Amino acid sequence: MKKTQNWNSSIGFILASAGSAIGLGAIWKFPYIAGLYGGGAFLLEFIIFTLLIGLPLLISEFSIGQLGKTYTISIFNKLSGKPILNSIGYLGNITAFILYAFYSVIGGWIIIFIMYYFGITFNLVEPNPDFFNQMMINPNYVLIGQAIFIAVTGIIVSFGIQNGIEKASKIMMPLLFILFMIIVIRSVTLDGASTGLKYFLIPRFEDISIKGTLYALGQSFFALSLGTTGMITYASYTKEKTNISKSAASIVFMNLLISVLAGLAIFPAAFALNIEVEAGPGLLFLVLPQLFNKIAFGMFFYILFLILFLFAALTSSISLLELNLSNIIKEDESKRKRTALWISIIVFITGIPAALSFGVLNNIKFGAGSIFDNMDFLVSYILMPIGVLLTTLFTGHILSKTRLQNVVTHGFSIWYPLVKYVLPVVILIVIITQFL
Ligand code: PHE
Repeated sequence: MKKTQNWNSSIGFILASAGSAIGLGAIWKFPYIAGLYGGGAFLLEFIIFTLLIGLPLLISEFSIGQLGKTYTISIFNKLSGKPILNSIGYLGNITAFILYAFYSVIGGWIIIFIMYYFGITFNLVEPNPDFFNQMMINPNYVLIGQAIFIAVTGIIVSFGIQNGIEKASKIMMPLLFILFMIIVIRSVTLDGASTGLKYFLIPRFEDISIKGTLYALGQSFFALSLGTTGMITYASYTKEKTNISKSAASIVFMNLLISVLAGLAIFPAAFALNIEVEAGPGLLFLVLPQLFNKIAFGMFFYILFLILFLFAALTSSISLLELNLSNIIKEDESKRKRTALWISIIVFITGIPAALSFGVLNNIKFGAGSIFDNMDFLVSYILMPIGVLLTTLFTGHILSKTRLQNVVTHGFSIWYPLVKYVLPVVILIVIITQFL
């Protein structure tokens, strides 16, 4: 997507932002964090945060993009006349870069799984019930997977063809949704599924903890791509008439829907199949193969699922790469390919310790856990909340109310006081509590 270009229609903008939002966050991360922090209690907190905090923040990022219409490292100065505020844009770029580095590790796992199941289909490899655990610790597998994921993202972005990818998501996303419905139906009809269903849907208030609450808030930022200025970038390509409040509402709705479906697919099955819900980042990869085993033509459906899952992850990684790239090349499209290559190489190198942290670097544990956990912690629970805090302060206290009124045409009277007074306080409290 070139900066000089606008989306041809609102739908292009919605597809791209929904593509950025819906990805590993909703499908892979949400169930595993919910499994670690209390199932139903986590779901409830996540829904509340997404609607009351995530939605207004998304509208806030969209309004900055639509009013400023330029790169995120200059947009804050352009709108306020204060060059120092461009640091919000730089911070977003750093956050997106680190996020991309560990995101690509999980993208790589999906790719290895796809290759493995194709291998089984064509009788090239033997089925191996312990495949996930062996793959995760094997440096060759994880690094090759990660490299391919970064390469595919890089190729799409260097040819500037993400427009086409976004159009394809008109077909892929509904397909993913339908497939999820099938998996959910199978999952909830397994013997012993009801325990898992209760675990996920019924909040037990004793499970609510400070850490879980922080993680639920961080998850709502991560899943909506907030606090990286990624959504500001996409909104800066919109035409004036795009209704950003409605667009934001539909993205939030889709994202919640996919998160809930992922939970409904995984928890009943995990309980029925005796898989530990606290398995961590491997949860989805441990549960789904067994679940698909119990579906007619399971292998075919599983491969289809993995391809759609990969697609969803790619539309997010594209936005991460494009954010960094657009700020470097600015209008000079001739630099696109070379810059995409360089960023990809550096991201790959940065991601190596994260990729290896499930295997050879497994014994390095500090702060939030493994190297991977620490990168995620830094991004999701420190940098994103700070990015979000600065963005909301910028919207509520620097931008003029009249200008905002022109772009936020729906629900302004509720949205504005939320963004100006309530959210900065709430987010600040959350940031502070984790250092106590
Ligand atoms: N929202 C994406 C996901 O859930 C991740 C992401 C975060 C992408 C921030 C871009 C910017 O997978």
